[in-house]
Parts: sequence; structure tokens; C-alpha cells
Amino acid sequence: MEKTFAIIKPDAVEARNAGKILARMEAEGFRVVAMKGHRISKAEAEGFYAEHAGKGFFGALVSYMTSGPVFVAVLERENAVAHWRAVMGATNPANADEGTIRKEFGQSIERNAAHGSANAADAAREVTFFFSQAELLSS
Ligand code: RTP
Ligand code: MG
Repeated sequence: MEKTFAIIKPDAVEARNAGKILARMEAEGFRVVAMKGHRISKAEAEGFYAEHAGKGFFGALVSYMTSGPVFVAVLERENAVAHWRAVMGATNPANADEGTIRKEFGQSIERNAAHGSANAADAAREVTFFFSQAELLSS
């Protein structure tokens, strides 16, 4: 079993799509190990997306991720990292396949409804960035 980290981003919460995205997580066979509502601070957004610091879209990304509440989650299943990335679809909803979350709920390359860890090392870092051990449900 593998864990990944997910965010239901501000645009999806604002549009009242959080419940549909949670239902999709479970329908895809993920166990939701943890989930909580959170308002990401500027410092958290800058740290979380540090790999993008200095890029042209970084300021807009930080503004967007702090613009409203999100749901952060830890998801578990076989091949969790790659499977959640596949279910989300391409970063730009315009390029995302039919049936993916970003195709269905994304509004733009920035306002794209969901986050998923890029690899297992990122997943481990991102889970501990937002959750304490006590918040992770034991199986
Ligand atoms: P994420 O990290 O959120 O799961 O998204 P990702 O791996 O598919 O894409 P990444 O390259 O890591 O970009 C992180 C987030 O930054 C915003 N973005 N805006 N305006 C732009 O050109 C642009 N490019 C990326 C998106 O919100 C993207 O998910
Ligand atoms: Mg990324």
C-alpha cells in the first residue's frame, strides 16, 4: 500500500465540488486516511510550492492557493501516487482527458481543482507538511 497527498483546491471548494471529488477518491479505491479543511497561509503556500519559486506564475499560484479554504487529504491504495495523478489529469484542464477531475472541474491551468504529489518522496514530505501522525487514521 502506498500513500499520496491531495488538495481539493480553493476553486473546487468555492464551486461546491468538494463532495464530488471526495466521492471520486473513494470510488477509485482510495482509503481516505486523513482529511481536514484548512486555510493555507502565504508562508505555507510558498513552502509547499517551493520548487516553483522564481517562475513567472509563482506569485499568482500563492495568491490563488491562499484565496479560500481547501481540503487537504492523505489517500492510500496500491500505486497511490501515480493513480491519483491519472485521476486528476493534465495540469491544464484544456489538455486533460475526458473523465478526469481537472477536465470536469478545472477552470484554467491555474484554477485546476486538485493537487496530487508528483512522486513518493514528495508525498511523504507533503503529508508531514500538513498532518501530524496523530491525525492519520490507523488501518
Ligand atoms: P500540482 O502540483 O498542484 O498537483 O499540479 P501539477 O503537478 O500538475 O503542476 P505543477 O507544474 O506542479 O504546478 C503547480 C500548480 O501551479 C499552477 N500553475 N499555473 N499559470 C501557469 O502557467 C501555471 N502553471 C502551473 C497550477 O495550479 C498547478 O497545479
Ligand atoms: Mg506539482
